[in-house]
Amino acid sequence: MGNAIKLASFLETNSNIELAKVIVSLAEGCKIIARLVNNAGLTGIIGTTGDTNVQGETVQKLDDLSNKILMDYLRASETCAGYLSEENEGTVTLNQNGRYIISVDPLDGSANIDICAPIGTIFNLNQRISAAGEVTHADFFQQGTTTKCAGYFIYGSSTILVLSTGNGVNGFTLNTEDNEFYLSHPSMKISENGKIYSLNQGNVGKFDEGVKNFISFCSTVDKETSRPYSLRYIGSMVGDLHRTFIKGGIFIYPANKGEKKGKLRLLYECIPMSFLTEQAGGKATDGKNRILEIQPTELHERTAIFIGSKNLVEKAEEFLRS
Ligand code: AHG
Ligand code: MN
Ligand code: MN
Repeated sequence: MGNAIKLASFLETNSNIELAKVIVSLAEGCKIIARLVNNAGLTGIIGTTGDTNVQGETVQKLDDLSNKILMDYLRASETCAGYLSEENEGTVTLNQNGRYIISVDPLDGSANIDICAPIGTIFNLNQRISAAGEVTHADFFQQGTTTKCAGYFIYGSSTILVLSTGNGVNGFTLNTEDNEFYLSHPSMKISENGKIYSLNQGNVGKFDEGVKNFISFCSTVDKETSRPYSLRYIGSMVGDLHRTFIKGGIFIYPANKGEKKGKLRLLYECIPMSFLTEQAGGKATDGKNRILEIQPTELHERTAIFIGSKNLVEKAEEFLRS
């Protein structure tokens, strides 16, 4: 790999030792998840556990496995004090004297495992507020503006870690030869404009007028403004947002008649993705309010989200206001 920068050396100059230990432990756990995902068809771990999680959603075997792997690896970091996951009802204390707490979606887009579409792990890291001992809910109810590190691993045609510790966004690709992450996407930026819109248009009947009007704006023929835009929707937030980072565009999961506050979870999907998006020059709101300034009050609370290219998010907000 010549002089390519390894994740560990990048962290030496872009984080402190305790934070680096959490990130490296997380990355080691996600290397295992990547291998499980890549071999899923051969090892009988496709399919569901038969349980439903606190979200009332069917738990895929890989959701459960990923969750357990991450708890083990983060416990071993010794610097991660507490763990909140989509798959656990409450918070878990991992190291009483740890300084960091993590909110994580162990496997995002897990309905896509059996069709081999991109899925991923999304995480948000804060410093704990409580001094030591058992973590408290207050440790996790911090606004996104206090995030110390956020990122995602995408398990797709390659395994890539996209990470920010507050000074921009960098991508690291897993080299399958030596099983190490190397810097492959330095200083990622989301273009201000975009020509792709991404949402589950099947729900259009349940959307508010403003969202419907924005969808017709995107699909109107207008050569001057390169419309109609393309509609792309993978059904994995990680996959749809990684494309948005690379190609620009807007991803929307709005509130709708069936889901009063939308579907996506604030603490371990929307805040980390919004932190990354803002660090890359994009914008992320609930249609009106900046996601990073929403005050969390419940562990698994949901929020509507409009995220991606700044000018497209602002265009959508215009339709929501009118
Ligand atoms: P998860 O698999 O962690 O529950 O997340 C699935 C989420 C998100 O990844 C995706 O954007 C969204 O569900 C898709 O929802 P719809 O199928 O309702 O469009
Ligand atoms: Mn998810
Ligand atoms: Mn998930």
